Amino acid sequence: MHFLHKPLPYLLFGVLFEYFTTLCSPLQVSPVSCGSKNISSYYGHCVTSQEGVRELVCFVPLGLSRNGWECVWTPRKHLVYQTHRYTLIIEQKMIHSCKMYANISGTSQTFNLSKKRNMTAHVFDESDPKSCTKNVFSGSPQQLVRCGPPSNVDLNRHSRQLDIQASWRREENKYIALYSVRYKELKSQSWKEPPVKSKDSNRCTLGNLNSSLSYVVQIQCVANDKCTQCPWSKNFTVPPELTDKPVMEMVEDFPQTKGSRLVIIKWKFAASELAEGYSVTVGKASGEDPIEAFNTSRTLLRLALSHSAYHLTITAFNKAGNSPAAQRTIPPLDDKDLYGRLNVTFNGNMSFTVSWVDDLIKTYSCFSVEWWRRGEKAAHKSFYEDENNYEVIHLEEPLELYKKYTFTLHTRPHKEPCNLKFINNSESTYGSIQSFFTEGSPISAPGNITSSNVSQSSMVLEWTAVPEEDNRGFLLGYFLHYTERLQDWTDTEPNITVDAGSTSYELVDLQSSTVYRVQLSAFTSAGMGVRSSAAYFETKPEGLLVDLSTVVILQLTYLISHILNGRPVLSSVPPQHP
Ligand SMILES: *[C@@H]1O[C@H](CO)[C@@H](O)[C@H](O)[C@H]1NC(C)=O
Ligand SMILES: *[C@@H]1O[C@H](CO)[C@@H](O)[C@H](O)[C@H]1NC(C)=O
Ligand SMILES: *[C@@H]1O[C@H](CO)[C@@H](O)[C@H](O)[C@H]1NC(C)=O
Ligand SMILES: *[C@@H]1O[C@H](CO)[C@@H](O)[C@H](O)[C@H]1NC(C)=O
Ligand SMILES: *[C@@H]1O[C@H](CO)[C@@H](O)[C@H](O)[C@H]1NC(C)=O
Ligand SMILES: *[C@@H]1O[C@H](CO)[C@@H](O)[C@H](O)[C@H]1NC(C)=O
Ligand SMILES: *[C@@H]1O[C@H](CO)[C@@H](O)[C@H](O)[C@H]1NC(C)=O
Ligand SMILES: *[C@@H]1O[C@H](CO)[C@@H](O)[C@H](O)[C@H]1NC(C)=O
Ligand SMILES: *[C@@H]1O[C@H](CO)[C@@H](O)[C@H](O)[C@H]1NC(C)=O
Ligand SMILES: *[C@@H]1O[C@H](CO)[C@@H](O)[C@H](O)[C@H]1NC(C)=O
Ligand SMILES: *[C@@H]1O[C@H](CO)[C@@H](O)[C@H](O)[C@H]1NC(C)=O
Ligand SMILES: *[C@@H]1O[C@H](CO)[C@@H](O)[C@H](O)[C@H]1NC(C)=O
Repeated sequence: MHFLHKPLPYLLFGVLFEYFTTLCSPLQVSPVSCGSKNISSYYGHCVTSQEGVRELVCFVPLGLSRNGWECVWTPRKHLVYQTHRYTLIIEQKMIHSCKMYANISGTSQTFNLSKKRNMTAHVFDESDPKSCTKNVFSGSPQQLVRCGPPSNVDLNRHSRQLDIQASWRREENKYIALYSVRYKELKSQSWKEPPVKSKDSNRCTLGNLNSSLSYVVQIQCVANDKCTQCPWSKNFTVPPELTDKPVMEMVEDFPQTKGSRLVIIKWKFAASELAEGYSVTVGKASGEDPIEAFNTSRTLLRLALSHSAYHLTITAFNKAGNSPAAQRTIPPLDDKDLYGRLNVTFNGNMSFTVSWVDDLIKTYSCFSVEWWRRGEKAAHKSFYEDENNYEVIHLEEPLELYKKYTFTLHTRPHKEPCNLKFINNSESTYGSIQSFFTEGSPISAPGNITSSNVSQSSMVLEWTAVPEEDNRGFLLGYFLHYTERLQDWTDTEPNITVDAGSTSYELVDLQSSTVYRVQLSAFTSAGMGVRSSAAYFETKPEGLLVDLSTVVILQLTYLISHILNGRPVLSSVPPQHP
């Protein structure tokens, strides 16, 4: 007996180990031979009873192990003691084999036994000294090969359907070609007939469900030569379908220092009592990985983000699946007061250099640059840089002429990898700059030129700006061309430069009773753009008559409007010219 040579601590450990494993797992009960025992006489006092241990079945779980068997039984109805101890006796009469498993605390036992012979099993419950109960089972191994229940089941309700994905243990998978599903409304007593067959070994769909009802589902494989038994699985309770979308009530930015922002997202869900929680995903709108997912039971989320654009989805979920998703884009935060200053220079149309003022490489080594044209998805490039305060970026697609690009530089706190691992709290925006690879001149003209405050010698002209994308460069201002000559238009016409910020100008020193022809064009660093069509405006004739009558009319309108509005008429407030 060589274990006698083992040192004491090992033995002690061995005893403890044995003790704990028997406690934790009844499967470790070891058999003793009972070949010499006459079972019918030894357990002669035990009876079969509906109240006692019952429903003993033994089977061969497919692929458990070469000779693996399992027996399960149902305990007596009224437990006498907190823990029951069962005795299981397995016989193969043909070969006079008998094994006894005593003191089993659970209601199942696995064991090894030849699969070549029929077997008989007896289970005894002697925990009540006054009444020992027993149950017997016999069978032939070929008919006892059991497959299932499924090891993993995914449920997903949508559009009044339930999609079921069932998978089985690896050993069973290759023998299970199909399965069937029975289901009933939670409150109903009976299963719907007939059960529904799966499409393949994996997927099954139940249709025509009532979205607002809960269902109970059971799954079993379809028996064949290899799987001779297919028991129904446990009950899967399927809560009602989540048919509503969450509604976003608030997505609000709270800019923080150093190019970050706190975004607070609040939502509402109509059928909130059916939702177990909410799943929120956030990813950069540029498409850069990753998309981070957060589960929460609240309807509020706080995220620390950079000034980039993000896509956000919110779905409610329960055991039956997900609600439709609410989607939102969190636009880039357009903050002119970013703390950093960027420069971008172009090296042909396939590359640019981004540089920054501060000595960022002292603090950071991971960066990301994003660039986009207005309204379009941003391109992105992350890079590692610890030598220069600039980086040359090579492009896959050429930069376009005459289009305004926005470039932003983000810093990332973590080295290696420079790619984002998380979205929340892992990037801040250093600076942003707008630039054209090449500027062009405006391709449309200022519109709707009107005049107001016309007098004998002056008038105020107003116009609408050229649409932003038609400028094709940074708008530097307007050329206002005007002349009293109505026909021959020459290039020596007087012109006035109006700065880009205004869309009105007062012409002075005009002649009275004269028609002026006016044209406007916008200009960029690439030059003057398209001229508007001509507009004609006439100055007032000389003399006071007309002006006086205008004043009288204005005074009258003022009086009438005050009477109509019920205000005191005798007011010293002078009439306001429109
Ligand atoms: C076992 O015991 C029963 C009843 O006591 C008896 O009828 C039977 O003959 C015995 N069997 C053997 C093999 O001894
Ligand atoms: C069952 O357990 C009891 C008490 O724990 C013990 O006395 C008895 O010997 C055990 N029986 C077997 C067969 O191990
Ligand atoms: C059955 O035998 C296998 C080896 O063939 C062994 O690994 C396994 O533990 C045994 N199972 C039981 C319950 O004794
Ligand atoms: C095994 O049991 C089956 C029925 O369960 C029976 O048809 C068959 O004859 C038995 N085989 C032997 C060898 O007893
Ligand atoms: C679904 O079930 C609800 C609650 O029982 C019932 O009011 C409703 O009429 C059912 N809808 C359909 C389409 O059967
Ligand atoms: C499944 O649920 C039904 C009631 O809906 C119940 O009668 C049955 O016992 C349950 N079966 C299991 C295995 O839990
Ligand atoms: C969120 O919950 C769902 C459903 O319980 C689960 O599948 C998913 O893995 C969870 N996601 C996270 C990020 O915890
Ligand atoms: C995101 O990060 C901020 C700052 O660390 C933290 O306050 C917030 O709870 C985080 N949000 C989530 C959903 O983890
Ligand atoms: C990019 O530049 C190359 C060489 O300067 C030129 O041939 C090509 O047409 C340009 N591509 C575009 C789309 O502007
Ligand atoms: C950006 O470029 C301009 C003009 O080339 C230069 O004056 C300025 O110093 C540059 N700024 C940085 C941060 O490199
Ligand atoms: C000019 O004004 C009219 C009427 O106010 C408006 O419908 C039109 O869109 C304007 N055109 C431009 C180019 O602004
Ligand atoms: C504006 O007028 C000056 C002379 O007054 C002329 O040299 C210049 O070309 C004119 N510019 C435009 C855009 O007409």
